[in-house]
Amino acid sequence: MPSTVKNAALLFAGRNVMRLQALLGDPAGRLFGVDPTRDPYPEYERVRRRGVLVKSRMGLHLTASHALSTSLLRDPGFGVLAPNALSPVDSSAHVGGRRLVNPVEESFLVLNPPEHTRMRRLVAPWFTPRGLRAQTATVERVVEDYLDEVAGRPTFDLVRDFAGRVPIQVIADLLGVPNADHTAFARWARALVNAIDGVRDLGEMRALHQGLREFQEFLDDLVEHRRREPGPDDVVSALVANEDLSRDDLIATTELLLVAGFETTVNLIGNAVLAVLGHPEVRERLLDDPSYAEAVVEETLRLDPPVQYAVRVPFATTEVAGTRVPGGTPIMMLIGGANRDPGVFADPHRFTPGRPEAREHLSFSSGIHYCLGAGLARMEAAAALRGLFRRFPDLRAAGPVVRRPSRAIRGPARFPVTNGVKKRHTMVETIS
Ligand code: HEM
Repeated sequence: MPSTVKNAALLFAGRNVMRLQALLGDPAGRLFGVDPTRDPYPEYERVRRRGVLVKSRMGLHLTASHALSTSLLRDPGFGVLAPNALSPVDSSAHVGGRRLVNPVEESFLVLNPPEHTRMRRLVAPWFTPRGLRAQTATVERVVEDYLDEVAGRPTFDLVRDFAGRVPIQVIADLLGVPNADHTAFARWARALVNAIDGVRDLGEMRALHQGLREFQEFLDDLVEHRRREPGPDDVVSALVANEDLSRDDLIATTELLLVAGFETTVNLIGNAVLAVLGHPEVRERLLDDPSYAEAVVEETLRLDPPVQYAVRVPFATTEVAGTRVPGGTPIMMLIGGANRDPGVFADPHRFTPGRPEAREHLSFSSGIHYCLGAGLARMEAAAALRGLFRRFPDLRAAGPVVRRPSRAIRGPARFPVTNGVKKRHTMVETIS
């Protein structure tokens, strides 16, 4: 059986097991065996009530504890999960005679030291405060350009026409492809993100392979071009110049930047706009003081994080919160739950921009895998909010918000809005 079909069959079987476990009340089943657009936060509270570390019959443990999540993410006795048998990427597939590279399982996101340290160091210089300052003006210009485009339309889709476009341009600039075909870039990014998110059917698996194939063909051409004509300050030119780096490492690193930096940021912007529309007092303050956007972004990260969980495994059998956990057993840290831990956050379900403990959230993880793009994401989202509400102070929902059908990544997939000129709608979902 071709491995794509075999993987799809395994995924399908896995899904049915999860549905059954959901019916039986298993904590992981209740999260993953149900409609993925369903509000996950009550489930995290249920996990919290059951204990600090909760065992699932599906071979993993879960925690919504902020203290335990933080300590596991920082513990050198724990590492990232090894590539798994249910990978949605067919590792035997090829493009132009070369192997398809999995953007998640072959990137440093899932490497442990010392390989992780070596690969992360190669791209870290683009994410320093200095690197960020250099990108701020570009980001603000990109935001204004896209706002110009939607300004003439009374209604538009916030995700498709705005939030989804800003991060693509930023990543394309970072990779050194300023005149990128953004439609193709967005298509590849959407397909590739399913490598993190998991695929739900054979169609999504084919789209993932197709996206990988097209993106890798594009990258192979870009690499050739950069060998002949290095750019002054882009990631691909720097990686090409590094003779110790294999083609597959280069591709995996570049793919990771696209996957990790795209949907996450899109969803942060979408979640932040949802929060502002649901809290008129926040909108008023944002209109009076655009610098308040940073606090709004930080509180959105805490209360409604785009990445909902991280997974670690102990390298050897160990005791965790009084439970013996065999080496290699996954522990899922529910970031969205840890961020509402009442031991750390006062009135944790309330949206309170500017709260003193705001930055304690785990939305960018912690420890050695702490998100490399955290500063960039914060800066992009704040620029997007500032620009959007300055231009459209009366922005309103123009129809129901459709959530992404995903447990791993949370945010709106479709978000129709009106710039306030036409009839107003109030059909907006609030996040308390
Ligand atoms: C709101 C936006 C973002 C969120 C919520 C987010 C979240 C995360 C999280 C939770 C991790 C760690 C996963 C783990 O510990 O297992 C991570 C890692 C990473 N992120 Fe982000 N991210 C965002 C934006 C970005 C951007 C804009 C970039 C770059 C363009 C980026 C690049 C990375 C990279 C390279 C890693 C791997 C770090 C490592 O393994 O050492 N992220 N991100």
